[in-house]
Amino acid sequence: MNWDAGRFTPPARLAVIGDPIAHSRSPQMHNPALQASGIDAQYIRVQVPVGRVAEAFRQFAACGFLGVNITIPHKFEALSEVDEVDELAAALGAVNTLVIRDGRLLGRNSDGPGFVRSVREAFGVGLADLRVLILGAGGGAGRAVAVQSALEGCGKLVLANRSIEKAEVLAGEIRALGRCRDVTVLGLTDNEIAPAAADVDLIVNATSLGMKSEDARLLPAAAMEARHLVFDMVYRPDGETPLLADAKAVGARTVDGLTLLLHQGAISFEHWFGRPAPLDVMRKGLREAVAS
Ligand SMILES: NC(=O)c1ccc[n+]([C@@H]2O[C@H](COP(=O)([O-])OP(=O)(O)OC[C@H]3O[C@@H](n4cnc5c(N)ncnc54)[C@H](OP(=O)(O)O)[C@@H]3O)[C@@H](O)[C@H]2O)c1
Repeated sequence: MNWDAGRFTPPARLAVIGDPIAHSRSPQMHNPALQASGIDAQYIRVQVPVGRVAEAFRQFAACGFLGVNITIPHKFEALSEVDEVDELAAALGAVNTLVIRDGRLLGRNSDGPGFVRSVREAFGVGLADLRVLILGAGGGAGRAVAVQSALEGCGKLVLANRSIEKAEVLAGEIRALGRCRDVTVLGLTDNEIAPAAADVDLIVNATSLGMKSEDARLLPAAAMEARHLVFDMVYRPDGETPLLADAKAVGARTVDGLTLLLHQGAISFEHWFGRPAPLDVMRKGLREAVAS
């Protein structure tokens, strides 16, 4: 693992791990927040190969780190390498935030609550008042958003995925939580998605498609309505995702993955320091990082 905590000023005390990790903009969001809060610590990127998360966590603890963010592909591995997982991270089935306290490794998840705050900020509404369609319910992001929506008591949950059996498994787990009465599963074909879209309020892209303009359309443009709220977990520094472009064309309200990145980061900060994060500073840092 390519890091040396001693060579940083201020000292490295926080990190984001992933593989790859060079693209992460989390340092540009967190370092201005640490500075604005008068915290003498630096947030760094560390590339950690699959299978070595436990070793990385031990090294961070030994070097006096306060916490770590965990991104693709380590969120599931991290869940089994911590000393304690809170109820939410256990329900979401993934850890994206590690808090290191008195040498103990505490697993938390800020993706789910970050999604709730993003929906509230972008659309001024809570998930309890929404019927939700998730495109790509087979991956970690789709899972976090689906379980969190159910925990918030959403009116209806439609899980669509290319590999339908993965969505079926998730639907079974969500039904067992008993918090959302109407949970259905679909394949990711136009014939299934278009009628489903007519009966939901919030449409979420949780697939990895959308980074490129030529990526396949997840939803026929004709199925999009002005009343829809559209959330793309993907963000493109160089323009809009195809889903958001279609949504805007019909007058629907939209939000992209940058807002989620901001809010999950703010919640991680709150876990580490027990105080509100300087959200405006973090937002400015992220915007500058994306623009550069
Ligand atoms: N903004 C944020 O803060 C944030 C946070 C987390 C994730 N994300 C983004 O969310 C996306 C998903 O992340 P993840 O961790 O869930 O990834 P993942 O675990 O690899 O899951 C990928 C999902 O996309 C689907 N998919 C992949 N290729 C597809 C294709 N060609 N056609 C249809 N469906 C396809 C998969 O379906 P199958 O199950 O059928 O393979 C699965 O549902 C990524 O773009 C990631 O960057 C953003």
